[in-house]
Amino acid sequence: MSDFPPHPTDLLHHLLRDRISHGDTVIDATAGNGHDTLFLAGAVGETGRVIAIDIQEQAITSTRSRLDAAGLTARATLHHASHTQIREIASGTTPTVILFNLGYLPGADRSITTCTADSLSAIATSVKILPPRGILAITCYTGHASGEDESTAVTEFITAHNDLRNARYGLIGTRNPAPFLLLCEKRP
Ligand SMILES: C[S@@+](CC[C@H](N)C(=O)[O-])C[C@H]1O[C@@H](n2cnc3c(N)ncnc32)[C@H](O)[C@@H]1O
Repeated sequence: MSDFPPHPTDLLHHLLRDRISHGDTVIDATAGNGHDTLFLAGAVGETGRVIAIDIQEQAITSTRSRLDAAGLTARATLHHASHTQIREIASGTTPTVILFNLGYLPGADRSITTCTADSLSAIATSVKILPPRGILAITCYTGHASGEDESTAVTEFITAHNDLRNARYGLIGTRNPAPFLLLCEKRP
């Protein structure tokens, strides 16, 4: 980790290194520019699989380029789709980790963001398709128009969910809105 205290994404990658095994199937439900997908593709090894989803073609292209540059494209399946279809997209697999990184695609149109209804729907389905001890990680970002509402709704949803153990991590006292990480394990 380069910064200390670490950015939530760096902390998440650090923590997941011990929890992802070679051969696992994992899901990046918001591929964006592919940083998380690339990390996951490294962690699952040659026999593993990453399923990455994004509604923007630009995000899929960006994620593919990043994987190509690292020679890891063969480990990933990229879906230009909404994560509300996560059950159908993941059908026939048992994902051990599902990541959401909410907000807009950095460097692109900031009016295209994740939205509360779709995020809640996809997160609810994710809890159902994860196996016991599976991990759900959600990076929330309040710095977009509906970001406060979305972050609050998602936090309340996981907090009330009987099948999850939850924690929240993030920088405090920052000048601009800072993302925070919700880290959840499905109860055995
Ligand atoms: C903050 S970015 C993700 C960053 C990414 N994890 C990375 O490592 O670069 C959020 C992404 O969510 C995508 N998104 C918004 N709504 C979505 C939906 N319903 N289904 C899938 N992706 C969605 C956006 O297009 C955007 O690329």
